[in-house]
Amino acid sequence: MADKRPETMERITTPELANAFIDEQINEIKEQVGDKKVLLALSGGVDSSVVAALLIKAIGKQLVCVHVNHGLLRKGEPEQVIEVFRNQMDANLIYVDAVDRFLDKLAGVAEPEKKRKIIGAEFIRVFEEEARKLDGIEFLAQGTIYPDILESDDGVKAHHNVGGLPEDLQFELVEPVKLLFKDEVRVVGKALGLPDNMVYRQPFPGPGLGVRCLGAITRDRLEAVRESDAILREEFAKNGLEGKVWQYFTAVPDFKSVGIDENGKRTFKYPVIIRAINTKDAMSATVENVPFVLLEHITNRITSEVENVNRVLFDLTPKAPATIEWE
Ligand code: XMP
Repeated sequence: MADKRPETMERITTPELANAFIDEQINEIKEQVGDKKVLLALSGGVDSSVVAALLIKAIGKQLVCVHVNHGLLRKGEPEQVIEVFRNQMDANLIYVDAVDRFLDKLAGVAEPEKKRKIIGAEFIRVFEEEARKLDGIEFLAQGTIYPDILESDDGVKAHHNVGGLPEDLQFELVEPVKLLFKDEVRVVGKALGLPDNMVYRQPFPGPGLGVRCLGAITRDRLEAVRESDAILREEFAKNGLEGKVWQYFTAVPDFKSVGIDENGKRTFKYPVIIRAINTKDAMSATVENVPFVLLEHITNRITSEVENVNRVLFDLTPKAPATIEWE
């Protein structure tokens, strides 16, 4: 398949158009792959999940999915990948618990870009180790989408997550959604029967909660980020903000403040920062006007349910001057 979207290609907006695309891709994948095996790094994000579901339909157990849990995923994500792909779709799924490896590598590293580099490099190393254990893999599937191609400078910039594998592990690529825009990938995902919270999920950075556990990552603050993020997502969903607000999450800084508990005793714990923003292209962003009563309710829940936290802040800053993430 060429890397340029034909001008005649209709935008996929309906289940019928999605089904036609799915049938066409199943044929193309079968033709390309034959009886060979295909490897896929399955993060549980929209793009890799749609590619996995397409390939499972086309070639079933010839697809080997590798899900690397680096410890920086949101609450419930690894479990959902296992439930949807292994239990419901009967996929060949290798689950790698690499939590300790990643957290050990990241220990004491406070500089945001250094953290990103470590997470990216370690991901490739874990994936490479899994790939080497497998025999007879000839293809690598990737969730490349059209904006990735448009954004990569003439193929100079590696545009997807497993670019960077060593020379002797270069596979032929299978990229069935590479001509689709994000909204089309979602329509196809829905037609493939993936759950709504997978298909319509908000953007989530590759380094995951790693860039929201500010400064040097510690397990207690990482847990506070994960638990407070889960509460925020639950409350936004319950109150009609899911799907309306473009991106929302929590971050936990690496300092403590003084507080007081219900028995009047002094506490010294971390704050949680709530961020909720709207944007078209992530280049600039405005802050969502979240109802004050909802913020009060979320604050109550976070301070009573999340360990090591005694204060909640709401980030009022648009992009620019702030960026969307804190790191
Ligand atoms: P910033 O913080 O730059 O974020 O305003 C813009 C959008 O990009 C996401 N983001 C990342 N995504 N790897 C990613 O895959 C990263 O290292 C990364 N950093 C930021 C961010 O969540 C927002 O949607």
